[in-house]
Amino acid sequence: MINNQISNEGKLQHLITTEGISKELITKIFNLAESFLKVGKRDVKKVPLLRGKTVCNLFFENSTRTRTTFEIAAKRLSADVLNLDIPTSSQSKGEALIDTINNLIAMSTDIFVIRHPEAGIPNYIANNVDESVHIINAGDGNNAHPTQGLLDAFTIRKYKKDFSQLKVAIVGDIKHSRVARSEIHALSTLGTSEIRLVGPEIFMPDDISQDKFQTYNDMKAGISDVDVVMMLRIQKERMQKDIIPSEKKYYEAFGLTTEILKHAKKDAIVMHPGPMNRGVEIQSEVADSSQSVILAQVTFGIAIRMAVMTLLVDKNI
Ligand code: CP
Repeated sequence: MINNQISNEGKLQHLITTEGISKELITKIFNLAESFLKVGKRDVKKVPLLRGKTVCNLFFENSTRTRTTFEIAAKRLSADVLNLDIPTSSQSKGEALIDTINNLIAMSTDIFVIRHPEAGIPNYIANNVDESVHIINAGDGNNAHPTQGLLDAFTIRKYKKDFSQLKVAIVGDIKHSRVARSEIHALSTLGTSEIRLVGPEIFMPDDISQDKFQTYNDMKAGISDVDVVMMLRIQKERMQKDIIPSEKKYYEAFGLTTEILKHAKKDAIVMHPGPMNRGVEIQSEVADSSQSVILAQVTFGIAIRMAVMTLLVDKNI
């Protein structure tokens, strides 16, 4: 649990994790995101809410979706956007991260969007900057990816409405997944009826309260009768060694195919945060099927990130 996300006045100061964020705040983010979805459908996809503000993307780890949708979200809010190219920055000359941050603050950066392979870095920075500066965690190690957790829950609300009636299966490498952690906290706070973690025992987490979920080591049983199937990639970059003997065997046991998907409810939606490994955790036919909402997740991500940045900066909402 992080203590500095909410200011003494009850406002969102930083977004580091979904753990401990209230249902009221999540609902506020969702309702604001709904209005920003409409902005995304206009000819002129811009509102002036962050005019004069500067957003800096600091990505110490690769990204396609998160970095670009944060950039698009900031631009739609009329902010100025900096994308620091880490390999060509003075980080490569040994500059301490906090010195890089302080130099960017001296250039009047208001919001930092930070992705880092080491868990805890965005929180460390949030604890060491002035209160006029806001930090958004865009993924730190296997710890948290709060805007992804929120956009995933928002996607479920768009398709399924009532969390209290929902069975959600999160399938795959949950142990190394910051996305799964952020989803579990958000879905649990929203009152999701049943959260199932499905995968081999070696992929089950040991750091999340067991009362938030049930575990299944069998794919068919795990997704039986669920409303939502969220697939995850095997995150080899966060493993000490290769713990899956064969991708083929993994796919046979835990890959989501059209045949396996029949065990879920007929109208179940299929989600994936990306990047997707077709033929490893998901069959192409499923990824591209009418039940897949994977690209809608990306579109909704822009609206969620616009909502989060607006709430950080605008003290009147
Ligand atoms: N979902 C997600 O974090 O994707 P990227 O790594 O491409 O940002």
